[in-house]
Amino acid sequence: MAREAETSRILIFGGTGYIGKHMVRASVSLGHPTYVYARPAGPQTRPSNLDLRREFHSAGVHIIEGELEEHEKIVAALKQVDIVISTLTYPQVPDQLKIIDAIVSAGNIKRFLPSDFGCDEDKITPLPPFQEFLEKKRKIRRATEAAGIPFTFVAANCFAAYFVNFLLHPHDPRDDIVVYGDGKAKAVLNYEEDIGKYTIKVANDPRACNRVVTYHLKPNVISQHELISLWEEKTGRTFKRVYVPEEDLVKLSQSKF
Ligand SMILES: NC(=O)c1ccc[n+]([C@@H]2O[C@H](COP(=O)([O-])OP(=O)(O)OC[C@H]3O[C@@H](n4cnc5c(N)ncnc54)[C@H](OP(=O)(O)O)[C@@H]3O)[C@@H](O)[C@H]2O)c1
Repeated sequence: MAREAETSRILIFGGTGYIGKHMVRASVSLGHPTYVYARPAGPQTRPSNLDLRREFHSAGVHIIEGELEEHEKIVAALKQVDIVISTLTYPQVPDQLKIIDAIVSAGNIKRFLPSDFGCDEDKITPLPPFQEFLEKKRKIRRATEAAGIPFTFVAANCFAAYFVNFLLHPHDPRDDIVVYGDGKAKAVLNYEEDIGKYTIKVANDPRACNRVVTYHLKPNVISQHELISLWEEKTGRTFKRVYVPEEDLVKLSQSKF
């Protein structure tokens, strides 16, 4: 049977990470032979990372231990799979050039999803601290295109649990919540587990090849005010909303730390 007709094999870089673990779990649950390229475990490896490796191992995930500098090892890993997803942590975004080089050498990869998973960096002009952040991600997009690698760039919008934690501090016993700007700006908060599932589906969907896919689900669009009101309803508490005006946020973003 031709490889295309079979279930695609997926390799995930950063699979032990915050969002990567959801990609790995979704890949397994959707029946894909799943591989994770991870740094060799050692005394410095966090216990939660080791727990995940054990979980993956018992779920049949192939864990390939190696560094991003090990070109031949990465090429050999790539030759076993069809699709590559990178969920490497932000400081390692430029290191994805090494993955791109290895994909070119391997020559068999049908789709590459680099570590984007935020806003669409080709569409927005953020405040200064985030310009450099997004510029690094843009460079990886351009390098992927220039190498002629079939890609899908994913704009996952906000990770829901991550942002709920930031915007509500639900574990904080205090009764005041900092509101950013007027609190009415809308954001898309997508649950991390869903992002994992959408990403595996999108990676396998021919319609998403060489496209940017944005996870913009109407029921997930919410303002900070609405979020606080939902939390008040759920907990029966009333929170004091402490405003940081938009002008102050802009000034803060322009100051040098
Ligand atoms: N939209 C949002 O709300 C949102 C929120 C957070 C993050 N993000 C984005 O999501 C992507 C993934 O972020 P994340 O927070 O999930 O990542 P993370 O958990 O910080 O790290 C992911 C993995 O990167 C690997 N890694 C860490 N340091 C490394 C190093 N020095 N060298 C090589 N590998 C290293 C680790 O894997 P091993 O230890 O197994 O090697 C780690 O598990 C990023 O692009 C980030 O910007 C988006």
